[in-house]
Amino acid sequence: MADSIVVLGGGVIGLSCAFEAARRGMKVTLIEPGTTGGQASGAAAGMLAPYSENTEQPDAFFQFCLRSLRLYPDWIRDIEELSGMSAEWVRSGSLNVFMHEADVLPVETRMRWQNEWSARAELVGAAELRKLEPKLTASAVAGLYTPSESHVYAPKLVEALEAACRKLGVSVVEQAGALLDASVNPGGGATVRFSRLDGPVHAERLVVCAGAWSGEYGRWFGLSVPIHPIRGQICSFGHAAGEVRHMVFSSQAYWVGKRNDRLVCGASEDVAGFETSVTERGIGRLVRSSGRMFPHLAGKETLHRWAGLRPATRDGLPLLGEIAGTPSVIMAAGHYRNGILLSPATAFIVADLLEGKRVEPALAAFAPDRFTPAAKIGLGH
Ligand code: GLY
Repeated sequence: MADSIVVLGGGVIGLSCAFEAARRGMKVTLIEPGTTGGQASGAAAGMLAPYSENTEQPDAFFQFCLRSLRLYPDWIRDIEELSGMSAEWVRSGSLNVFMHEADVLPVETRMRWQNEWSARAELVGAAELRKLEPKLTASAVAGLYTPSESHVYAPKLVEALEAACRKLGVSVVEQAGALLDASVNPGGGATVRFSRLDGPVHAERLVVCAGAWSGEYGRWFGLSVPIHPIRGQICSFGHAAGEVRHMVFSSQAYWVGKRNDRLVCGASEDVAGFETSVTERGIGRLVRSSGRMFPHLAGKETLHRWAGLRPATRDGLPLLGEIAGTPSVIMAAGHYRNGILLSPATAFIVADLLEGKRVEPALAAFAPDRFTPAAKIGLGH
């Protein structure tokens, strides 16, 4: 078992990997270029919604989401107990709402396969829909109710994870600045240098959890890492308790009622490089959709507007595992819209690899070197 681990990135994935490695007895340092939870994790709506987020088929990504959802009860309990903080997990269930009869037929196929995978979903008609969600528009004709979906408050989860990491002895280094270089040492281990840290940092194993920024590590480790940021613009409205009871999804947006009197509405999917500003166009679309779905929101001002960068890979699958030929480096990135949900399963796999366990065949689809020509693998030494 490696005992000097450096985790690169203080988002939910990095903190989760650090937490799991530390509680298995490893000595962990986490390095964050800015502030923990400052990027996609802080912007997230915190949905634990494998069914609403995967509507096509039970592929490897969906199965990974489900595996992670099943870990959540114990995971949250352990983080909350250790940190003494609440992640505000709300078992709200979800409603996918349809405005046209024609949208309902394809949903029956989806419901069938999702119920084979434990969704317990049911189709509800207009009257039942409004009983479940009284503020909903009268134009909604049907909904898919999935009681097994839920949400956490992502900034609180990140805060609790960080506190739990510190309690376990993880050294959390924030404001490290830009990555200057990273290299694999010929005798084993790896070294990184950051602009605001004095001198190089050496590690027996490096875990790269740099979200949309993970691509730049590829350059140093001889990998092709096609990962790019997809901006999610998001906003919130004031919200009285119980006004919106479930996570509600439409073809245009989603709404999540948080415990802090906020209704979060997300999210755009736009390409704007590493820009995290919001635009009138992006937020305007959410505001208009909100008024259409919930008439009580029509004309209401947003309370807060923000954006985060989801790490998207070319094939939509995460990068998770050791780099072939460079076992000192593990990647855990590219979780796109599901980083909060996928954090426990990712952390368990990373900790298993750090303990020297073999990678499961089911995870071959996530191999971080899958985009790199075989002849180039291992040339990053
Ligand atoms: N998981 C929701 C989003 O990425 O907007």
